[in-house]
Amino acid sequence: MVSIVSLSNTFVLILSCFLSISISVSGRPATFLQDFKVTCMKIKLIPGDSAGTVTAFYMNSDTDTVRDELDFEFLGNRTGQPYTVQTNIYAHGKGDREQRVNLWFDPSADFHTYTIMWNHHHIVFYVDEVPIRVYKNNEARNIPYPKMQAMGVYSTLWEADDWATRGGLEKIDWSKAPFLAYYKDFDIEGCPIPGPANCAANAGNWWEGTAYQALNAMEARRYRWVRMNHVIYDYCTDKSRYPVTPPECMAGI
Ligand SMILES: *[C@@H]1O[C@H](CO)[C@@H](O)[C@H](O)[C@H]1NC(C)=O
Repeated sequence: MVSIVSLSNTFVLILSCFLSISISVSGRPATFLQDFKVTCMKIKLIPGDSAGTVTAFYMNSDTDTVRDELDFEFLGNRTGQPYTVQTNIYAHGKGDREQRVNLWFDPSADFHTYTIMWNHHHIVFYVDEVPIRVYKNNEARNIPYPKMQAMGVYSTLWEADDWATRGGLEKIDWSKAPFLAYYKDFDIEGCPIPGPANCAANAGNWWEGTAYQALNAMEARRYRWVRMNHVIYDYCTDKSRYPVTPPECMAGI
């Protein structure tokens, strides 16, 4: 269910608990999920000098032409400088929806939970209990929403010092290798494929319930706090890239 690619021999991705996770425990076949679920993972990122590295936790339809993808990317930094979390959303083959958030804690000091909520109503990226990004299903307004394809869950750790840290100014210090990120408590709920064809459409799935159709008041408050205090880049407001604001950016939460 999780494949690890792009591992050079000085990057090590330690996937503790990966093999004892709930997928096999609950007797479900692993791999790809048919829409709609919550994926969550506890990650402890590379400590110290992680500049130039990117640790990613993402979902991907594994279809090149009409790709759906939901990305968490953790951009490393020099010792003492803050990690940046970049999120991106591909729907029906179109990505280029980057947002970046500075974390309000040191993500290499402890495990934190990173969750992707994906159902018929919205996609929410959470850091612990805090929503950092919301992408609503606005198909009624002709905004593409990833829904037609199953997605797998992946994690990678890679060299990206041509762009990741301060736009590529900060290079990887290989004398600090190996670079270690730790994962645990992977949890995934949803409709595996192949599986009962009616699962994805079952309105009784808990993740489709009213509590998961929009942010609650507390979540909305936290989301506003992130938007006001921690967003450092948003494609929605990048006029040099998008002179016309993309329609999904007007959708609110
Ligand atoms: C790294 O630290 C610098 C200086 O604090 C900051 O400007 C930058 O946003 C941080 N993150 C990345 C990925 O460059």
